[in-house]
Amino acid sequence: MPRQDATWGREWNAAAYHRLSHPQASWGRKVLSSLQLRGHEVLMDAGCGSGRLTAELLRALGGEGRVVGVDMSENMLATARKHLGSEFSGRVQWVAADLASLPFEQTFDGIFSTAAFHWVPDQKQLFLSLLGALRRGGWLRAQCGGGPNLARLQQRMDQLSATPRFAPYLAGFPSPWIYHDAQAAAELLKEAGFQNVATNLEPALTLFENARSYSEFVRTVIVHLHLEQIPDATLRTDFVEELTRQASADDPPFALDYWRLNLSASRPL
Ligand SMILES: C[S@@+](CC[C@H](N)C(=O)[O-])C[C@H]1O[C@@H](n2cnc3c(N)ncnc32)[C@H](O)[C@@H]1O
Repeated sequence: MPRQDATWGREWNAAAYHRLSHPQASWGRKVLSSLQLRGHEVLMDAGCGSGRLTAELLRALGGEGRVVGVDMSENMLATARKHLGSEFSGRVQWVAADLASLPFEQTFDGIFSTAAFHWVPDQKQLFLSLLGALRRGGWLRAQCGGGPNLARLQQRMDQLSATPRFAPYLAGFPSPWIYHDAQAAAELLKEAGFQNVATNLEPALTLFENARSYSEFVRTVIVHLHLEQIPDATLRTDFVEELTRQASADDPPFALDYWRLNLSASRPL
Protein backbone atom coordinates (compact mmCIF):
# COMPACT_ATOMS: atom_id res chain seq x y z
CA MET A 1 0.00 0.00 0.00
CA PRO A 2 1.67 3.30 -1.02
CA ARG A 3 2.54 5.58 1.92
CA GLN A 4 0.64 8.82 1.33
CA ASP A 5 -0.94 11.40 3.62
CA ALA A 6 -2.54 14.80 3.03
CA THR A 7 0.79 16.56 2.49
CA TRP A 8 2.46 13.69 0.66
CA GLY A 9 4.31 14.68 -2.47
CA ARG A 10 4.38 18.37 -1.66
CA GLU A 11 7.75 18.73 -0.07
CA TRP A 12 11.29 18.78 -1.38
CA ASN A 13 14.76 19.06 0.09
CA ALA A 14 14.79 22.61 -1.21
CA ALA A 15 18.31 23.56 -0.09
CA ALA A 16 19.74 20.52 -1.88
CA TYR A 17 17.57 21.19 -4.96
CA HIS A 18 18.86 24.76 -5.04
CA ARG A 19 22.46 23.54 -4.92
CA LEU A 20 22.07 20.69 -7.43
CA SER A 21 19.61 21.94 -10.04
CA HIS A 22 22.13 23.18 -12.62
CA PRO A 23 20.48 21.20 -15.44
CA GLN A 24 17.05 22.71 -14.67
CA ALA A 25 18.59 26.18 -14.35
CA SER A 26 20.32 25.97 -17.72
CA TRP A 27 17.23 24.62 -19.53
CA GLY A 28 15.15 27.33 -17.85
CA ARG A 29 17.57 30.10 -18.88
CA LYS A 30 17.18 29.05 -22.50
CA VAL A 31 13.37 29.33 -22.25
CA LEU A 32 13.72 32.65 -20.45
CA SER A 33 16.01 34.05 -23.15
CA SER A 34 13.30 33.38 -25.75
CA LEU A 35 10.78 35.67 -23.99
CA GLN A 36 10.09 39.02 -25.55
CA LEU A 37 9.51 41.21 -22.54
CA ARG A 38 8.42 44.83 -22.60
CA GLY A 39 9.48 45.36 -19.01
CA HIS A 40 6.30 46.32 -17.16
CA GLU A 41 4.51 42.96 -17.22
CA VAL A 42 3.02 41.12 -14.26
CA LEU A 43 4.22 37.53 -14.62
CA MET A 44 3.82 34.23 -12.81
CA ASP A 45 6.68 31.75 -12.35
CA ALA A 46 4.53 28.63 -12.07
CA GLY A 47 6.23 25.96 -9.93
CA CYS A 48 9.02 28.40 -9.11
CA GLY A 49 10.90 26.00 -6.82
CA SER A 50 13.83 27.64 -5.01
CA GLY A 51 13.56 30.79 -7.12
CA ARG A 52 16.73 30.60 -9.22
CA LEU A 53 14.83 31.38 -12.42
CA THR A 54 12.38 33.73 -10.69
CA ALA A 55 15.38 35.95 -9.92
CA GLU A 56 16.53 35.82 -13.53
CA LEU A 57 13.02 36.61 -14.75
CA LEU A 58 12.94 39.69 -12.49
CA ARG A 59 16.34 40.82 -13.79
CA ALA A 60 15.19 40.32 -17.40
CA LEU A 61 12.05 42.37 -16.72
CA GLY A 62 13.90 45.33 -15.22
CA GLY A 63 12.59 47.81 -12.65
CA GLU A 64 8.94 48.08 -13.67
CA GLY A 65 7.77 44.48 -13.91
CA ARG A 66 6.56 42.19 -11.15
CA VAL A 67 6.67 38.42 -10.67
CA VAL A 68 4.57 36.12 -8.49
CA GLY A 69 6.37 32.86 -7.71
CA VAL A 70 3.84 30.08 -7.13
CA ASP A 71 4.69 26.69 -5.68
CA MET A 72 2.95 24.19 -3.43
CA SER A 73 6.12 23.32 -1.50
CA GLU A 74 6.59 25.52 1.56
CA ASN A 75 10.26 24.41 1.72
CA MET A 76 10.83 25.63 -1.81
CA LEU A 77 9.13 28.95 -1.13
CA ALA A 78 11.16 29.47 2.07
CA THR A 79 14.39 28.81 0.15
CA ALA A 80 13.27 31.13 -2.65
CA ARG A 81 12.53 33.94 -0.15
CA LYS A 82 15.95 33.45 1.43
CA HIS A 83 17.72 33.25 -1.91
CA LEU A 84 16.21 36.44 -3.33
CA GLY A 85 16.41 38.29 0.00
CA SER A 86 15.57 41.96 -0.44
CA GLU A 87 17.05 42.30 -3.94
CA PHE A 88 13.65 42.66 -5.61
CA SER A 89 11.56 43.92 -2.71
CA GLY A 90 8.17 45.14 -3.82
CA ARG A 91 8.52 43.42 -7.20
CA VAL A 92 8.24 39.78 -6.11
CA GLN A 93 5.59 37.91 -4.18
CA TRP A 94 5.45 34.26 -3.17
CA VAL A 95 2.22 32.27 -3.11
CA ALA A 96 1.71 28.70 -1.89
CA ALA A 97 -0.84 27.13 -4.21
CA ASP A 98 -1.58 24.14 -6.40
CA LEU A 99 -1.09 25.03 -10.07
CA ALA A 100 -4.22 23.02 -10.87
CA SER A 101 -6.39 25.30 -8.71
CA LEU A 102 -4.75 28.70 -8.81
CA PRO A 103 -6.28 31.48 -6.66
CA PHE A 104 -6.02 34.03 -9.51
CA GLU A 105 -8.38 35.25 -12.21
CA GLN A 106 -7.24 37.22 -15.24
CA THR A 107 -4.25 38.52 -13.29
CA PHE A 108 -1.12 37.88 -15.37
CA ASP A 109 0.29 39.21 -18.64
CA GLY A 110 2.33 36.04 -18.95
CA ILE A 111 3.05 32.71 -17.27
CA PHE A 112 6.55 31.25 -17.30
CA SER A 113 7.18 27.74 -16.04
CA THR A 114 10.03 25.27 -16.19
CA ALA A 115 10.47 21.70 -14.97
CA ALA A 116 7.15 21.69 -13.12
CA PHE A 117 4.08 20.73 -15.20
CA HIS A 118 4.89 17.00 -15.44
CA TRP A 119 4.54 16.81 -11.63
CA VAL A 120 0.86 17.88 -11.74
CA PRO A 121 -1.48 14.85 -11.80
CA ASP A 122 -4.57 16.54 -13.26
CA GLN A 123 -3.29 18.00 -16.52
CA LYS A 124 -6.70 19.14 -17.82
CA GLN A 125 -7.31 21.07 -14.64
CA LEU A 126 -3.74 22.44 -14.78
CA PHE A 127 -4.23 24.05 -18.19
CA LEU A 128 -7.71 25.36 -17.32
CA SER A 129 -6.33 26.88 -14.16
CA LEU A 130 -3.41 28.54 -16.01
CA LEU A 131 -5.75 29.91 -18.67
CA GLY A 132 -8.03 31.38 -16.00
CA ALA A 133 -5.07 33.14 -14.32
CA LEU A 134 -4.06 34.90 -17.56
CA ARG A 135 -5.44 38.22 -18.76
CA ARG A 136 -7.02 38.18 -22.21
CA GLY A 137 -4.19 38.02 -24.75
CA GLY A 138 -1.76 36.84 -22.05
CA TRP A 139 0.90 34.28 -22.93
CA LEU A 140 2.13 30.95 -21.58
CA ARG A 141 5.76 29.91 -22.16
CA ALA A 142 6.70 26.68 -20.44
CA GLN A 143 8.98 23.68 -20.53
CA CYS A 144 8.62 20.40 -18.69
CA GLY A 145 9.49 16.73 -19.07
CA GLY A 146 7.84 15.05 -22.02
CA GLY A 147 7.93 12.20 -24.55
CA PRO A 148 10.49 9.54 -23.59
CA ASN A 149 11.83 11.61 -20.68
CA LEU A 150 14.07 9.44 -18.47
CA ALA A 151 12.74 6.26 -20.11
CA ARG A 152 15.94 4.32 -19.46
CA LEU A 153 16.01 5.32 -15.80
CA GLN A 154 12.29 4.54 -15.47
CA GLN A 155 12.80 1.07 -16.90
CA ARG A 156 15.57 0.39 -14.40
CA MET A 157 13.44 1.71 -11.56
CA ASP A 158 10.55 -0.53 -12.63
CA GLN A 159 12.80 -3.58 -12.70
CA LEU A 160 14.32 -2.78 -9.33
CA SER A 161 10.90 -2.05 -7.82
CA ALA A 162 9.72 -5.55 -8.78
CA THR A 163 12.57 -7.30 -6.93
CA PRO A 164 11.78 -8.95 -3.54
CA ARG A 165 13.71 -6.29 -1.56
CA PHE A 166 11.80 -3.34 -2.95
CA ALA A 167 8.47 -4.82 -4.08
CA PRO A 168 6.84 -4.55 -0.61
CA TYR A 169 7.21 -0.73 -0.86
CA LEU A 170 7.31 0.08 -4.55
CA ALA A 171 5.26 -2.54 -6.43
CA GLY A 172 2.15 -0.76 -7.63
CA PHE A 173 3.53 2.68 -6.74
CA PRO A 174 2.20 4.90 -9.54
CA SER A 175 4.61 7.09 -11.48
CA PRO A 176 4.43 10.64 -10.11
CA TRP A 177 5.15 12.08 -13.57
CA ILE A 178 3.07 12.69 -16.68
CA TYR A 179 4.98 12.95 -19.94
CA HIS A 180 3.01 14.04 -23.01
CA ASP A 181 4.30 14.00 -26.53
CA ALA A 182 4.11 17.27 -28.45
CA GLN A 183 0.78 16.50 -30.15
CA ALA A 184 -1.04 15.40 -26.99
CA ALA A 185 0.20 18.51 -25.17
CA ALA A 186 -1.02 20.75 -27.99
CA GLU A 187 -4.45 19.12 -27.89
CA LEU A 188 -4.72 19.59 -24.13
CA LEU A 189 -3.82 23.28 -24.46
CA LYS A 190 -6.41 23.81 -27.21
CA GLU A 191 -9.08 21.90 -25.28
CA ALA A 192 -8.47 24.19 -22.30
CA GLY A 193 -9.10 27.22 -24.55
CA PHE A 194 -5.59 28.36 -25.49
CA GLN A 195 -4.77 29.61 -29.00
CA ASN A 196 -1.52 30.15 -30.95
CA VAL A 197 -0.43 26.79 -29.59
CA ALA A 198 3.05 25.49 -30.45
CA THR A 199 4.73 22.51 -28.83
CA ASN A 200 7.89 20.53 -29.47
CA LEU A 201 10.17 17.98 -27.85
CA GLU A 202 13.93 18.22 -27.55
CA PRO A 203 16.53 15.80 -26.18
CA ALA A 204 18.52 17.00 -23.17
CA LEU A 205 20.97 14.22 -22.32
CA THR A 206 22.60 15.27 -19.06
CA LEU A 207 26.00 14.02 -17.96
CA PHE A 208 27.39 13.79 -14.44
CA GLU A 209 31.06 13.67 -13.54
CA ASN A 210 31.02 10.65 -11.28
CA ALA A 211 28.94 8.23 -9.21
CA ARG A 212 28.65 10.69 -6.32
CA SER A 213 27.24 13.58 -8.31
CA TYR A 214 24.91 11.25 -10.26
CA SER A 215 23.50 9.55 -7.16
CA GLU A 216 23.06 12.80 -5.21
CA PHE A 217 21.14 14.31 -8.11
CA VAL A 218 18.95 11.24 -8.71
CA ARG A 219 18.14 10.96 -4.99
CA THR A 220 17.22 14.63 -4.54
CA VAL A 221 15.68 15.68 -7.82
CA ILE A 222 14.16 12.55 -9.35
CA VAL A 223 13.30 9.69 -6.98
CA HIS A 224 12.56 11.45 -3.69
CA LEU A 225 8.89 10.39 -3.75
CA HIS A 226 9.84 6.77 -4.42
CA LEU A 227 12.31 6.87 -1.54
CA GLU A 228 9.62 8.20 0.80
CA GLN A 229 7.85 4.86 0.28
CA ILE A 230 10.81 2.91 1.68
CA PRO A 231 10.90 3.02 5.49
CA ASP A 232 14.49 1.77 5.93
CA ALA A 233 17.39 4.19 5.33
CA THR A 234 19.80 1.46 4.22
CA LEU A 235 17.31 0.17 1.67
CA ARG A 236 16.78 3.72 0.36
CA THR A 237 20.52 4.09 -0.13
CA ASP A 238 20.68 0.67 -1.81
CA PHE A 239 17.96 1.68 -4.28
CA VAL A 240 19.91 4.74 -5.43
CA GLU A 241 23.24 2.90 -5.38
CA GLU A 242 21.90 0.16 -7.64
CA LEU A 243 20.66 2.75 -10.16
CA THR A 244 24.06 4.43 -9.96
CA ARG A 245 25.89 1.12 -10.46
CA GLN A 246 23.86 0.47 -13.63
CA ALA A 247 24.53 4.00 -14.88
CA SER A 248 28.28 3.47 -14.39
CA ALA A 249 28.21 0.81 -17.13
CA ASP A 250 26.51 3.07 -19.71
CA ASP A 251 28.32 4.72 -22.57
CA PRO A 252 28.73 7.53 -21.67
CA PRO A 253 28.52 6.69 -17.96
CA PHE A 254 26.34 8.63 -15.49
CA ALA A 255 24.03 10.10 -18.12
CA LEU A 256 20.36 10.92 -17.63
CA ASP A 257 18.20 10.58 -20.72
CA TYR A 258 16.20 13.77 -20.24
CA TRP A 259 13.73 15.06 -22.87
CA ARG A 260 12.11 18.49 -22.63
CA LEU A 261 8.67 19.46 -23.89
CA ASN A 262 8.33 23.13 -24.91
CA LEU A 263 4.88 24.75 -24.71
CA SER A 264 3.87 28.10 -26.09
CA ALA A 265 0.30 29.42 -26.24
CA SER A 266 -1.86 32.42 -25.46
CA ARG A 267 -5.29 33.25 -24.04
CA PRO A 268 -7.62 34.62 -26.72
CA LEU A 269 -8.34 38.37 -26.59
C1 LIG B 1 11.80 20.35 -10.41
S1 LIG B 1 11.13 21.69 -9.52
C2 LIG B 1 11.33 23.04 -10.69
C3 LIG B 1 11.55 24.35 -9.99
C4 LIG B 1 11.94 25.50 -10.91
N1 LIG B 1 10.86 25.88 -11.80
C5 LIG B 1 13.18 25.16 -11.70
O1 LIG B 1 13.10 25.07 -12.93
O2 LIG B 1 14.23 24.96 -11.07
C6 LIG B 1 9.37 21.40 -9.66
C7 LIG B 1 8.60 22.36 -8.76
O3 LIG B 1 7.23 22.26 -9.09
C8 LIG B 1 6.48 22.31 -7.89
N2 LIG B 1 5.18 21.68 -8.11
C9 LIG B 1 4.94 20.41 -8.49
N3 LIG B 1 3.62 20.19 -8.60
C10 LIG B 1 3.01 21.35 -8.26
C11 LIG B 1 1.66 21.76 -8.17
N4 LIG B 1 0.65 20.93 -8.45
N5 LIG B 1 1.40 23.02 -7.79
C12 LIG B 1 2.40 23.88 -7.49
N6 LIG B 1 3.72 23.55 -7.55
C13 LIG B 1 4.02 22.30 -7.94
C14 LIG B 1 7.34 21.55 -6.89
O4 LIG B 1 6.99 21.83 -5.57
C15 LIG B 1 8.73 22.02 -7.28
O5 LIG B 1 9.10 23.17 -6.56
